[in-house]
Amino acid sequence: MNSHNHIWFPYTQMANAPAPLKVIKADGLYLYLEDGRKIIDGISSWWTCLHGHCHPRLMEALRQQTTKLDHVIFAGFTHQPAEDLASELVKIAPWNDAKVFYSDNGSTAVEIAIKMAIQYQINTGNEHKTKIATLKGGFHGETFGSMALAGKDGFFKPFKKYLFEVVELDVFSDDFEKQLEEAFSDGDIAAFIYEPLLMGTSGMRIYPASKINQIIDNCQKHGALAIADEVLTGFGRTGSLMASDQAELKPDIICLAKGLTGGVMPLAVTLATPFVYQAFFGKDLSNALLHGHSYTANPLSCAVALENLKIIQTPEALSRIQNISAYHRNFAPKIQAKFGERIHVRFVGTVMAIEMQGIEGSYFNPIRAKIYDYFLANGILMRPLGNVFYLLPPYCISTEELDFVYEKIISFLHAHVE
Ligand SMILES: Cc1ncc(COP(=O)(O)O)c(C=O)c1O
Repeated sequence: MNSHNHIWFPYTQMANAPAPLKVIKADGLYLYLEDGRKIIDGISSWWTCLHGHCHPRLMEALRQQTTKLDHVIFAGFTHQPAEDLASELVKIAPWNDAKVFYSDNGSTAVEIAIKMAIQYQINTGNEHKTKIATLKGGFHGETFGSMALAGKDGFFKPFKKYLFEVVELDVFSDDFEKQLEEAFSDGDIAAFIYEPLLMGTSGMRIYPASKINQIIDNCQKHGALAIADEVLTGFGRTGSLMASDQAELKPDIICLAKGLTGGVMPLAVTLATPFVYQAFFGKDLSNALLHGHSYTANPLSCAVALENLKIIQTPEALSRIQNISAYHRNFAPKIQAKFGERIHVRFVGTVMAIEMQGIEGSYFNPIRAKIYDYFLANGILMRPLGNVFYLLPPYCISTEELDFVYEKIISFLHAHVE
């Protein structure tokens, strides 16, 4: 019996899954395995790790906080790390005087945003605004509310009949503006939630900032709230601190998680504009946002996130992000030219994706396992999304290490698309 035999792993067919790899240490770009191997974390451990594993400043911030306060109920009580972090988050929010609602993962940040939007409409006398609009193929998390926002025929099929209906618009279609006009014409959209610039889980699909402006413009005209799900895109992934920074119009609510603590501790926030916050004011409790979690604003997580916010805003972090972006920008056209129509290469900021053409794009496609195994055998963790594989590295990756990964990408393609 293996020591992992008592564990039911996520996204895993336990009947035939290969034995999981045991990680005993992580440092910078690398995961160190019990069997002696050293693996490049090409996907930043589910898109969380920003600067590299066990970053000394983040570890030190955590150590310091462990000497002061572990955890405390966050209703009726507050603490310094949560207050300091909120003050810093307000500075990077696109509006003055944002309000920070804490939770502990991306899905809950989204649940809270949706609950805020629905109740905002009720509290402001717009009960008829009941619908949520989303982008077709979007992904917003694993809880029932966030599952409802995504396409329901893939992963979420078993739960389909329990998930509320949403209005889905195709951001890649030529008539997106027309779809927006139609969707908003009945005046019943409460909120529009979207992954800004980069739709991660559905295959690292990238759309221009002008589409964000179109979404927000329609929201503003029709009294709907625009919710930017920056759970993946936040903290430099798309080149700017937030993907929303690349659009002129600003959302009303922003969800952040994953990179918020640099990939060290679970923490999430839902940021709201002051006018959303003020709609929850009232004489009694029924107007308030009645939501919270046991580990809301965990002090250890907040302390690490505060340090991460300092690091991510240093010129050094910015230049690392710019270097990775420039490297991808240079490499992408080269392999596109080399493999022509057999692949589609795309990139935004620090993320580069390669879609293998002529292969069905489902997450259940066996090509997934082939890609995964190939890169792992070459010392790189890649976790493909069906026929799409991508590099989403911690920002500490060097140009030599990028060259190494690129070289393996080319050799994989030579072996599999020629
Ligand atoms: C855009 C987006 N929103 C929300 C989530 C859910 O985050 P979590 O896995 O922390 O619940 C994800 C996860 O991949 C995501 O990519």
